[in-house]
Amino acid sequence: MAEQAASIEALLEEGRTFPPSPEFAQQANINDPNVYEEAERDFEGFWSRFADELSWFRKWDTVLEWDPPHAKWFVGAKTNVSYNCVDRHLATRRNKAAIVWEGEPGDWKVYTYWDLYREVCQFANVMKGLGVTKGDRVTIYLPMVPELPIAMLACARIGAAHSVIFGGFSPDSIRDRIEDSQSKLLITADGGFRRGNIVPLKRNCDEAIAGDTTIEQVVVVRRTGHADELMQGGRDQWWHDLMQGASQKCEPEPMDAEDMLYMLYTSGTTGKPKGIVHTTAGYMVGTYATAKWIFDLKEDDVYWCTADIGWVTGHSYIVYGPLSNGATTVMYEGSPDFPDRDRWWSIIEKYGCTICYTAPTAIRTCMRWGEEYPERHDLSSLRLLGSVGEPINPEAWVWYRKNIGGDRVPVVDTWWQTETGMILIAPLPGITTLKPGSATRPFPGVLADVVDEAGNSVGLGAGGYLVIKRPWPAMLRTIYGDPERFVEQYWSRYPNIYFTADGSKRDADGDFWLLGRVDDVINVSGHRISTMEVESALVDHPTVAESASIGKNHEIKGQAVVSFVTLKEGIDGTDDLLNELKRHVATKIGSMARPDDIFFTAELPKTRSGKIMRRLLRDVAEGRALGDTTTLADPGVVEALKEQYGDEE
Ligand code: PRX
Repeated sequence: MAEQAASIEALLEEGRTFPPSPEFAQQANINDPNVYEEAERDFEGFWSRFADELSWFRKWDTVLEWDPPHAKWFVGAKTNVSYNCVDRHLATRRNKAAIVWEGEPGDWKVYTYWDLYREVCQFANVMKGLGVTKGDRVTIYLPMVPELPIAMLACARIGAAHSVIFGGFSPDSIRDRIEDSQSKLLITADGGFRRGNIVPLKRNCDEAIAGDTTIEQVVVVRRTGHADELMQGGRDQWWHDLMQGASQKCEPEPMDAEDMLYMLYTSGTTGKPKGIVHTTAGYMVGTYATAKWIFDLKEDDVYWCTADIGWVTGHSYIVYGPLSNGATTVMYEGSPDFPDRDRWWSIIEKYGCTICYTAPTAIRTCMRWGEEYPERHDLSSLRLLGSVGEPINPEAWVWYRKNIGGDRVPVVDTWWQTETGMILIAPLPGITTLKPGSATRPFPGVLADVVDEAGNSVGLGAGGYLVIKRPWPAMLRTIYGDPERFVEQYWSRYPNIYFTADGSKRDADGDFWLLGRVDDVINVSGHRISTMEVESALVDHPTVAESASIGKNHEIKGQAVVSFVTLKEGIDGTDDLLNELKRHVATKIGSMARPDDIFFTAELPKTRSGKIMRRLLRDVAEGRALGDTTTLADPGVVEALKEQYGDEE
């Protein structure tokens, strides 16, 4: 964090700023700077005005009930999120493209709102036929195919909560998440395409639900056509077979404002992932409002978020935010470099995308590949760019604006989390002066601050912990099945204040500069990984006695996993074993958690009370001078490590 702060310091001195162009400001959905003050004066009224733009079976009695740390939004209201994302648009946008989908092999398909309505209704009826009822949980493990948002919206329609698992997760991770959510139904595909290869999704599911499981039925989308022999009679059925007989009408279930919409697992500071719970009305209003104002969504926009729907970004800003706005949302199944490194830019040109929302790690990768790839394509349709998932370094921000945005479009850096459900800190592109590397300021109505250990505001120009001091509509309501952990994790450090576990700094203008996580969570290419998860995967291997993992700064990925491993007595730390351990972590968790480096060590540096000093391991991994070692039980341990590995960097 110290070096990041230093580089930000340097940047602030440089002071590049980008005020909105008069043309952009003039056409923007919101261009009146007074909106911030107005929202401050009455934040409940502010949110309820967005809610008024949506459809309700019954309106709320109270906007907010705040019994810290428990919030209820739009209390007493009845609505349905699938109705708001689909049916609401049938009168005015029936034939408008809702989802534009492109598969990795180059196949593509457009769903109008009317198409989407029929498919969602049909699949909702399929699930009802399979015995899914309101309040059930449904696990979805699909590639980026249209059936994924269709299944999510169908769940929302009948009141079942979805639990989407990213397609990169391993069978063990799927098993843990199914067990925790107690899902009865699993929706998957035979496989998905990735860089020309087939990801064996069905095989992973079969492994995950072998033996004891709550899963009774599996619906399988045929995508790659290679796994017909894996269909298990009595348990597995094809999506297309089930859809054939299903009615195209399904009344949306009137859901209570606080009924669960979905859960999504994310990594925390322990080895056990947390099922973050989002509910109906507040989440819908929050994603609707932020998509409308931050992405400035217009009727003619073709909006593309490159994330995978398996992460929260895809939930909020591929599916719920854009569709509740009646926008056209683009989905792409595969990898950015297949068949060549210009694939993304070819998609922008082909569909005339006007907005593109992606992650810094992807931008840095494109920077490394070089300008020649975007130069092959006409990207002039773009009018706004977005970034999310990790701190964006100013160089990447400027490159993105120049080479993708033609040096003319705004770049909105958006800060948020799985837990926050919606963007909380980001520019409003018709109002805010942009600064490369800063997410600028909280969305109107959101009260964010940077505080010290004691919870005091650090004031402008200083750094500390980012906290949110007032409830917001899409906030998480709990951790599924673990209400104590919810309180402990987010609300116990400061009374009645949400602790984000991010470091941040505010500049003299009050703008926020995010500095990364302050807990044992690392952010690899925008994917959240807990060091504890990696450690438990490592000690699960029969040769490993003890391990400690850290995040090391990485030019492209932001951070990379580095693990220090103590082997059991008599085991040799060979290169073969090293590779085997890397593979083991990928198999246990998923390939995104695979350590870049593993260092064998006779001992780990610990304090006298036995706590592993990860800070020192970071110093070793990054080849820095060692920080304070006075609290170490045995200072020799870390010196030996440094001697052994310190020169490698
Ligand atoms: O550290 C912050 C970082 O990503 C974390 C949240 O990760 P996740 O729940 O997976 O959600 C990612 C997408 C919303 C945060 O605690 N993060 C996210 N966006 C930014 C960011 N860090 C800096 N700048 C951002 N714009």
